[in-house]
Amino acid sequence: MAMHLDILSPQQTELVRRPLEQAYTLPVDAYLSDTVYDQEKKRFLGDVWHPVARVEQVPNAGDYLSLDLFGQPLLVVRGRDGQVRVMSRVCLHRAAPLAEGCGNSYKFTCPYHAWTYDLTGQLVRAPLMEGVNNFAERALRLPQAAVEIWQGFVMANFAPQPSPFADQVATFSQFFAPHNLADMEIVKTLEYRNGWNWKVLVENFMEAYHHIAIHSKTFEPDFHARDSRIPDNDGPWSILHMPAAKPGPEDVSAALDGWQRDDLFANVIFPMFLVAVKHPSMVWYQVLPQAADQLHLKIHICLPSTFRALDEFPQMVEAAAQSVDAVHQEDIEANDLVWAGLQAPLTTQGRLSTLERSIWQFNQWWLDVMAA
Ligand code: FES
Ligand SMILES: [Fe+2]
Repeated sequence: MAMHLDILSPQQTELVRRPLEQAYTLPVDAYLSDTVYDQEKKRFLGDVWHPVARVEQVPNAGDYLSLDLFGQPLLVVRGRDGQVRVMSRVCLHRAAPLAEGCGNSYKFTCPYHAWTYDLTGQLVRAPLMEGVNNFAERALRLPQAAVEIWQGFVMANFAPQPSPFADQVATFSQFFAPHNLADMEIVKTLEYRNGWNWKVLVENFMEAYHHIAIHSKTFEPDFHARDSRIPDNDGPWSILHMPAAKPGPEDVSAALDGWQRDDLFANVIFPMFLVAVKHPSMVWYQVLPQAADQLHLKIHICLPSTFRALDEFPQMVEAAAQSVDAVHQEDIEANDLVWAGLQAPLTTQGRLSTLERSIWQFNQWWLDVMAA
């Protein structure tokens, strides 16, 4: 395939493109370069799907939340018609962001000159604009993303004619169907800000090779690195399957086979939809890159909606939050090490283990999208 990604040399690209058993990592510039990051912003705001919320975060008409996705300020809002919409939250007048945080409102009024938009992004009022030629409020609407609801996630795509998301992840969806991810709810969110490129976190999330060292006391005893496996993919995703070292206690949920119940899965839908599944929980790592070297991460711990009624629910949430944070602190340590090493002048592309097939899968996708 012809490559037109100027920032990588043909030699560097060739090393990444090799079959896994001969392949190398992405070169240092893929992580450090502002030019690459700017290119990622452009590509990923094209025909690429991103999770922007869970539906239960905006249950009622007028519920909204804001986020910044690759530099684009967005509003996720549920309309009077029950539809969840994702739109730019940059005012069409002189570009002030319209809202921050989350809440419930039936209109969004710009804090600068009070232009007002409804829940569909339609401009409904622009004060003191009399005398301006050919200006019709009704002709102005905030740019909208295509939206698909998938397993309770609000997925957004900014291409005019996006390729449907559900089709791209059909095999993936089938694999996780017994876990009923649609029924999960966010029960607690942890937040982190770190000075790394977002891909350092994604790569760390998608392989279990590092259990033998960084997680030798936490994950390795229960999920051995050597047993981890990564199936071939037929779409923009990877599944890291980590079989449990010992079978767990029997469970009444007949919907799950033993391995589905006991094993841990760390999945990435490219480029940055990270979701770990360990029955009965799901953990969504919401990756929010701020710059080539700045990452905002929200880790949303999710449990089945029925769990809220359990007496031990508060303790379950606390225990889950503590163990997720303890493991993530170890991953922060690993990512800090990698980030330091990537700055070194003698650092070159490294070889991959066959336990890192997911990184190889991601790299092929990344090259395809970046060179398109
Ligand atoms: S920038 Fe929003 S009303 Fe002027
Ligand atoms: Fe880890």
